[in-house]
Parts: sequence; structure tokens; C-alpha cells
Amino acid sequence: MLSKIHHVGVVVKSGDEALRFYRDLLGLPVTVDRVVDDQGVRGILLKVGESEIELLEPTRDDTGVARFLATRGEGMHHVCFESDDVAMELEGARAKGIELIDQAPRIGLAGRIAFLHPKSNHGCLVEYATPIEPAHAAPAAPQAAAQVAARKIDHLGIVVKDIPTAQGTFKHNFALAADTSRGGELPALGIRNSFLPIGESDIELIQPIVSEGPVAKFAAERGEGMFLLSVAVADVERAVAHLKENGVRASNPGSGGVSFLSMASTHGVNLQLVQRRL
Ligand code: CO
Repeated sequence: MLSKIHHVGVVVKSGDEALRFYRDLLGLPVTVDRVVDDQGVRGILLKVGESEIELLEPTRDDTGVARFLATRGEGMHHVCFESDDVAMELEGARAKGIELIDQAPRIGLAGRIAFLHPKSNHGCLVEYATPIEPAHAAPAAPQAAAQVAARKIDHLGIVVKDIPTAQGTFKHNFALAADTSRGGELPALGIRNSFLPIGESDIELIQPIVSEGPVAKFAAERGEGMFLLSVAVADVERAVAHLKENGVRASNPGSGGVSFLSMASTHGVNLQLVQRRL
């Protein structure tokens, strides 16, 4: 059974550069930072609520991560769901006819892991992980932690062609069900959406209903796939002021309590801060 978003994987050119944003400005504490030689990556995990952001820097040219960087540039690469039994998830996926990348679980940064092919999941590369070490202890918070006070991954936005079809896929593949009390048509944003709760976060399915705007542009250029990472913060005005003081371009939160950060600062991630008082 899937319990939460374990992490969202982000491919970056340089882990050190990316840490300047994710650790030093956003204030996320680093739990793991190591080179996995056989996979040709340096992986860095940063804690945000019950989840993590996984920065992946290729250390060789002949890996999937290196090819992703060369063809698409920096940005979101995969989402990892935590399961108490990755082998069972993989057998379940095989039985459902989901295309697998890994035929058997292997050891990765997050524990015992396995990847599913994005073509079975609306363009999302999905990883399952069963941690083998106890949950990473909360390390000392970086200085910026107090200013931004990132609380959790609020939601991961996935652009899809058709909401009912995508709801069916996520139900079938991952037993994730839509919360019918939320979502619907948002003409002002040119989208239709649906929220699928998992742990303390949501998967937001987003369907463009107009031909202009960022969602339609993403759909036209990239097709279906991971589009938006939304991080909940305690005080969005304060967080944005702190980021702006440090040279990050960010939209003013306004009454909606939402700010979008410049993708030049976030290493290619369409990152949104949203105010959530817990
Ligand atoms: Co991963």
C-alpha cells in the first residue's frame, strides 16, 4: 500500500549550485548526500514535511539522468511513492499490465526501489520505495528554515489530457482516489482539476480547457507529465520577502496566498509556495 510521496526527483546540473537554493534559501535540511557510482549520479535528499526533494546530478554521460539533462534541461524528473513492500507493488504493477522499467527491486538512495515506465502513467516517471534505514532523523535546520518555514509538499501538479481518464489510471495503478469535495472547473485559470490525496499531500490532475496560458503551453510542448511542485509554507509573505532579498524572482502572493518562483532560481522546477496554517 502506498502511504505518501516519499520524494520528488529533480535533475540538476550541479548539486552544489542547487543546494544554494534548496538548502540555503528555501531552508530545507539535507538528510543524505552521496554519489551512487553504479548509477552515475550524486543524489541529495532534502526534507520537506514527511517527504523529500531528491536532487540528482549526473556524474557520467551515459545514464538516463544525464540524457534527461541533455535533452530537457534541469527540472522535475520523477515522483516516488513510499510503500511498505516494493516487491509486492512491483508484482501488482506487472499483473495490472503497467510497463515496468525495473523487473525486480534494487537498492537506491531511498531504500529498495523500482521504477515504472512513464507511458503507463500519463507521462510521469514513477518510483516505488521501501526505506531500509529508519526514517532520516530531522537534521539541524539551516538558517533560512525559520524565514521560509516550508511545511510539506502541498501538491504535485500533473498535466493530463483528460481528467476522468487520468483519474481512472491513478485509481487502477496506485489505488489513489479523487477527493470529490474539491476540484472542478476553474475558467479564470483555464483549467479543470482534481485532487488525489496521498499522505499529507495531494496529486493534482490538471487539464487545460483553453489554448493559452502556462498549462496549455506545457501540454502543447511536452504533452502530459509533471508540471508543478507546490510547497506549503506558514507565512507566504514572509517567505517571499526573504527569497526576494536573496535575489529570487517571485510573484506577489496577493489574496490567494500563492507565489510562483522564477524557474531560473529553482533549477527548472515550476515551484509554487502556498500559505497553509496548520
Ligand atoms: Co528517486
